[in-house]
Amino acid sequence: MAITVWPVTDGFAAEIGDVDLSRPLEADEVAAIKQAFWDYGVLIFPAQDLTEQQHVDFARHIGPIEISIAALNSDAPQRIRTDLADVSNLNPRNEIWGEKSRRRALGVGNRLWHTDSSFKFLPARASLLYARSIPPIGGHTEFADMRAAYDALDEAMKERLAELIAEHALSYSRERTGFTSFTERERNNLPPVPQMVVRTIPENGRRSLYIASHIGRIRGLSEDDACALIDRLIAHATQRQFVYTHRWRTGDLVMWDDRCTMHRGTAFDDLRWPRDMHRATVSDIANTCEQAGIAVAAA
Ligand SMILES: [Fe+2]
Repeated sequence: MAITVWPVTDGFAAEIGDVDLSRPLEADEVAAIKQAFWDYGVLIFPAQDLTEQQHVDFARHIGPIEISIAALNSDAPQRIRTDLADVSNLNPRNEIWGEKSRRRALGVGNRLWHTDSSFKFLPARASLLYARSIPPIGGHTEFADMRAAYDALDEAMKERLAELIAEHALSYSRERTGFTSFTERERNNLPPVPQMVVRTIPENGRRSLYIASHIGRIRGLSEDDACALIDRLIAHATQRQFVYTHRWRTGDLVMWDDRCTMHRGTAFDDLRWPRDMHRATVSDIANTCEQAGIAVAAA
């Protein structure tokens, strides 16, 4: 049976029905899902019942899977397999994390607008977040359409941004939340990396802003001017008309295009309710500057 594409918003988020992601997909189903993904940017697959392996198997249709930064930065045992990011408030014993836990302090940064893994030289193409357990209130995810936000810029701003290269680092966004206690291994593993501020999505030719709270510098601008510009662009891109808010249901798998969206998690009572989410993250094909034909080295 062919999949059903049910628009939730005009051109940005859609629900996908008549597909069971726990079983192998036919080539025409994969093609239809990819086409919907390029058309929209955020796809919601409700009522899925997936093992970790089935989640990863579906993500591999979109591209190669990243290793989670928790696994990259620590030899400690992880709660879930290392090709899934643990987007939860649970410790390895599946208990709610403590008030003073380091992961809790780091996780505050997920409430800032960002796109996943833009702080890696090879950034993410797509994220696939699966809800195993959700709080009864709060803990939503907001998504911003960066193609629509780009289209709405005036021509002078489009021209100003066209060739700009930003430097992204996880430490830049975490510093904004007051978290500064990165280990040397973390700093060495994740130095600032260059990314284009505007990029073109190859499948449909649409231009998109590629910005995030991970940006700390813009090449050729003072630090103050760079921060002011990024704050202005994030404020522009996250206006109500560009944003879809996803209220999670257990069993939702939401897949978004990291190349042309930003997202952030909303607050919830994380010391009271478990929120157990697993994320498969698919790598892009190259650094965004390289994709634009500009040779760069990591900063
Ligand atoms: Fe994220």
